[in-house]
Amino acid sequence: MEYVIEMLNIRKEFGNFVANDNITLQVKKGEIHALLGENGAGKSTLMNVLFGLYQPEQGEIRVNGKPEKISNPNIANGLGIGMVHQHFMLIDKFTVTENIILGKEITSGGRIDLKKAEKVVRDISERYGLAVDPKAKISDISVGMQQRVEILKTLYRGAEILIFDEPTAVLTPQEIEELMQIMKTLIKEGKSIILITHKLKEIMEVADRCTVIRKGKGIGTVNISETNPNELANLMVGREVVFKTEKKPSNPKQEVLEVKDLVVKDARGVTVVNGLDLTVRAGEIVGIAGIDGNGQSEFIEAITGLRKAEKGSIKVNSKELFGLTPRKITESGVGHIPQDRHKHGLVLNYPLAENMVLQTYYKKPFSKNGILNFNEINKKARSLITEFDVRTPSEYALARALSGGNQQKAIIGREVDRNPDLLIAAQPTRGLDVGAIEYIHKRLIEQRDHGKAVLLVSFELDEIMNVSDRIAVIYEGKIVAVLNPKETTEQELGLLMAGSSRKEAGEETHV
Ligand SMILES: Nc1ncnc2c1ncn2[C@@H]1O[C@H](COP(=O)(O)OP(=O)(O)OP(=O)(O)O)[C@@H](O)[C@H]1O
Ligand SMILES: [Mg+2]
Repeated sequence: MEYVIEMLNIRKEFGNFVANDNITLQVKKGEIHALLGENGAGKSTLMNVLFGLYQPEQGEIRVNGKPEKISNPNIANGLGIGMVHQHFMLIDKFTVTENIILGKEITSGGRIDLKKAEKVVRDISERYGLAVDPKAKISDISVGMQQRVEILKTLYRGAEILIFDEPTAVLTPQEIEELMQIMKTLIKEGKSIILITHKLKEIMEVADRCTVIRKGKGIGTVNISETNPNELANLMVGREVVFKTEKKPSNPKQEVLEVKDLVVKDARGVTVVNGLDLTVRAGEIVGIAGIDGNGQSEFIEAITGLRKAEKGSIKVNSKELFGLTPRKITESGVGHIPQDRHKHGLVLNYPLAENMVLQTYYKKPFSKNGILNFNEINKKARSLITEFDVRTPSEYALARALSGGNQQKAIIGREVDRNPDLLIAAQPTRGLDVGAIEYIHKRLIEQRDHGKAVLLVSFELDEIMNVSDRIAVIYEGKIVAVLNPKETTEQELGLLMAGSSRKEAGEETHV
């Protein structure tokens, strides 16, 4: 059997904590090999070992059958291993080509030959079906495009084995479809791929085999043609997972959030929220469905005070919040699970405990006469860690050291625990494993059943359909339809999101 990569009995420790415990991963040439496991199971750690970012305490790595010591990423590159990280590492002010050749420039007569480099980039991009504009600046292109640049960067360096760490977590459904095609083309051209994703649908669609790890230990490898999503979920979590969230009908009461004629500009000064009206009542979950870039991010930023709105009214419990600071807004009963957890959710270099009181540290019992009470702060953190199953060595660990999904669980715990009247959840389950998604959905519904208003923004139509009591479709900065999830379909939603009128999209529905 020809394996391009063999990781045999790998052990990686962080202090007393064993992140990889005797894991074996064998990748065949020309296959897409999925790596599946709960948040914190040790997937990224294992890939960082392969890419030379971490040194294992035990185990052996073989590339094309030959034992290798991969002590840094340059050596990994030299062996034909490339990695596309979840957080891109591109320079905004540089062009696509400049980013791709960075550190491995094409020169003629001692100077960088951009013309020649652009041609090389164009050739690779055509060969693998990765359409990009070699001259475009990174700051001007979409996230999906930026990811293509990261892929091209690895191909330009001669990668034969590509590692993708949760590549679809930041993409829209359309971009995900394109990436799946790109991966298939890469395989046809003889590359091998290791794919980390929490989306079982994606694994079923593109992968040949899947290795499952649970709490740092290898559970086994299965052929995708002989398995199904339920079995994969069970292997990963070690119990049955329910994919559909059970909930009682909603019992909406008074209006909590009332937005009227809101206008918001984006960072470039373009009006992206354009006369938006929306109401969310106590005891209901309103889901916002829309294609990325239709104003949903700026809308949420305006409500939470992270972005200044131009005009309109934002009332919570009849109190006008327009123009208030984020802290005032928080104190008025608004909780926020932000879309970008690194920018707005956590201070990565603070311990987890301090992150759990980011909005409340100056209040009792966490602070008294201006002095922080760390006993109380740590106690609060420990109780949230237990309740929300945040997998971390302790409350003292830096937020940075938590796995992506566990960072997200920590933020959700903190926001839900503050018990706000209005809870805004923006892409709350992004990067979470199926078990954690199930749990988060239950908690959102529980908030609703306690009479709170919940505003959910998500690109996952499944999630919008399953969790919401009403669905508001956003298009070009306006709410163009409000639907009852029981009386609509993903098809109808898709059409409305793309700008079709309600009549074209299907039957009129009443909510
Ligand atoms: N640099 C580090 N220092 C200490 N602990 C770490 C470090 N990196 C990872 N860990 C711990 O190792 C465990 C595995 O983390 P890893 O990032 O590999 O998980 P993962 O499977 O990729 O999860 P996710 O799906 O959430 O991304 C986690 O419990 C994490 O807290
Ligand atoms: Mg990870």
